[in-house]
Amino acid sequence: MSNLKKIQKRKLDHLQIAASAESQIGDTGFLNYKFIHNPLPESDFDRIDTSTQFLDRIVKYPILISCMSGGIAEGETLNRNLAKAAQKYKIAMGFGSQRIAIEHSALVHLFEMRDVAPDIPLLANIGLVQLNYGFGLKEFQKCVDMVEADALVVHINPIQEVIQPEGNRNWKGLLGKLSKIIDKLSVPVIAKEVGFGLSEDAVKRLYKVGVRYFDTSGWGGTNWAMVEGLRSKSNRELGELFSGWGIPTTESIKMCANFKGSLPDSERSKIKIIGSGGVRNGVDIAKAISLGSDIVGIASPFAKAAMRSVSEVEKLIERYAKELKITMFGVGAESIKKLKKVKLVEQK
Ligand SMILES: Cc1cc2nc3c(=O)[nH]c(=O)nc-3n(C[C@H](O)[C@H](O)[C@H](O)COP(=O)(O)O)c2cc1C
Repeated sequence: MSNLKKIQKRKLDHLQIAASAESQIGDTGFLNYKFIHNPLPESDFDRIDTSTQFLDRIVKYPILISCMSGGIAEGETLNRNLAKAAQKYKIAMGFGSQRIAIEHSALVHLFEMRDVAPDIPLLANIGLVQLNYGFGLKEFQKCVDMVEADALVVHINPIQEVIQPEGNRNWKGLLGKLSKIIDKLSVPVIAKEVGFGLSEDAVKRLYKVGVRYFDTSGWGGTNWAMVEGLRSKSNRELGELFSGWGIPTTESIKMCANFKGSLPDSERSKIKIIGSGGVRNGVDIAKAISLGSDIVGIASPFAKAAMRSVSEVEKLIERYAKELKITMFGVGAESIKKLKKVKLVEQK
């Protein structure tokens, strides 16, 4: 099998397994937090404003379709269905790793979606570890230009890479390399985990090299140790063992928010937190925002819907939007700004 065919087979495996129930393992922590019901909301349900600003654009809902597979025929359908629905509801969307299209330019078209998504935030995507495997400023900027992106998501997935038999193992010196190119890129960098969570220390170190956007992608949703474990029998035990590894999404959001809170006012306003990892309904979205997120990312449920049709993706967005609005009504928050100020009660 050629190298390209092997990568495409891996991506198809990822897509099928990550959309299955078997890969959804862990505890995000959302159930440990409760809103206090407000029986006197003093607001008009039909005037609740769920819009917010993200990357210099206004989105109608604080929802980001998280970065997912591209570079395979199935990935093009997936991306197109997601992009069309995201545009209709004015929400943000990320692409899966574009490494394959940098290495095989004939595949660039699988990622080109600006024609159907002209004015929503679109996020390019590449792995941080690629900086140790021949990629640099030129390739990172190419990812951005390829999709006319508003930001570049740099995914950070060390545990997945070392469990994956063909994964990249050298993670030395990456922050130094990122620091040399970050200011030369035309768009901001978003540092993102893939389901094991960003820690406060990692956020601090990423901040020092110039990162201002953080996507938690915490533990409790799609479990990438398990996905790799399910791909091959020989990897099963390792995948199962490390399926318990990671920082729950709620804790990762709190760690990001804590770091943000430690900065002086002028710097604090530059930090944006994307809460993601196992977010599965509008109540989770609202909780993620109350815990400190500016916007919330969701991946696997969107993959499942997009493999069926655009209208399935649209239905999912409508469901999340309705659940979010009811939650905002139930706590008396008429805007996302107000929702951010609502306190959650931690259940011991
Ligand atoms: C099918 C699939 C493919 C993914 N591919 C990528 C990728 O290429 N780059 C990336 O940064 N994250 C990728 N992810 C990870 C998601 O963006 C997200 O961080 C993770 O799945 C946790 O979110 P969830 O629990 O809502 O699925 C992928 C997720 C899925 C479901």
